[in-house]
Amino acid sequence: MKRVIVVALIASIIMSLTACGAADNTSVPDMSSTNTVSVGDSVVDISASDNSESKTQDIDYKALVNKLHPLPDGWEDSLETVMVKNSLGDDVEVEKKAYDAYLKLKEDLEKENVHVDLDSARRSIADQQRIMDDFTKEYGADYALKTVATPGYSEHHTGLALDLYLNIDGEDVYLNEDMVQYPEIWAKIHEKLPEYGFILRYLEDKEYITGYGYEPWHLRYIDDVDAAKEITSKGLTFEEYLGAVNTTDVTVDLGTSELYTEDELKEAAVQVKCKFASFDGCMLQSLRYAGDECNTEENIKWLNSLDEGAEYTKVAEFLMDFHTPKENSGAFDADKDMKDYQWWLAQDSEGSWQVVSFGY
Ligand code: DAL
Ligand code: ZN
Repeated sequence: MKRVIVVALIASIIMSLTACGAADNTSVPDMSSTNTVSVGDSVVDISASDNSESKTQDIDYKALVNKLHPLPDGWEDSLETVMVKNSLGDDVEVEKKAYDAYLKLKEDLEKENVHVDLDSARRSIADQQRIMDDFTKEYGADYALKTVATPGYSEHHTGLALDLYLNIDGEDVYLNEDMVQYPEIWAKIHEKLPEYGFILRYLEDKEYITGYGYEPWHLRYIDDVDAAKEITSKGLTFEEYLGAVNTTDVTVDLGTSELYTEDELKEAAVQVKCKFASFDGCMLQSLRYAGDECNTEENIKWLNSLDEGAEYTKVAEFLMDFHTPKENSGAFDADKDMKDYQWWLAQDSEGSWQVVSFGY
């Protein structure tokens, strides 16, 4: 058995994070509303929230909130929101400027016969916890962790993240699995986002950077049309634009395996890249499957011993080369090539991968 020394700092950060995963479009908090305004053909109920009085400071519209960056301290002190009621009768709270921009986007889309509404925008930590609990009950902890951000780490806390739903031929379409059936409609929506200062936050095939799967409905307001245009035209994630991520876009050498299908190994590699995305400033150079000989009884026993209650039946080892950041990050020596860094993953009888250990 190989001894793996996990770098303590990195491990403690990463182990507290959720895995890469699928989509959200979750329920919204119950809140009251009073006034009404016209939006296109519809009337929405709108009222000032508790945050309506003038704030002295602007919020940072480009604040990064993701699996590694929680909502900045004191965010609410500068946040101004409005409450709106959607066509389903749910109340949705949105940051003021983001809402104004959304109304313009919505109006523009309606000219093209595309109809959208707001499913969810700002969520408190308690709202996010409730959603996490509901998802855990409904779909199990694994799926919930892959779909819903840990309370405190959701971009929805900012009020700048907006989940849309569609209205098609007069019918509201709001379930994730139904909404993804309309890629042409989403394409029309996405094309217009930058003009109004929005970006699409969770891009297809970029879950190893964002930590979440494709969410065509989840917009982020950044209050900067030029930046939104640059991000969109270059196909960047917000992390990439802000320089807050390492580059992980390398071809993975899957080698040959009689134990795993190509798809299984690809999925394992995604899980590795997802974890690696939190190695701030590190640059991935190569990633390869170490071969079926890693799947020994001894290694299976070892990985089971690292995860209490785990019932892993198969393991896979990947080897990685990467370069550490020029400035010392505290976790690794600065500006160093790391060769054959080990990643150990395991599968239980259901076949989903867990990254159980990594290091030398
Ligand atoms: N599903 C998104 C990532 C959230 O819960 O914030
Ligand atoms: Zn969302």
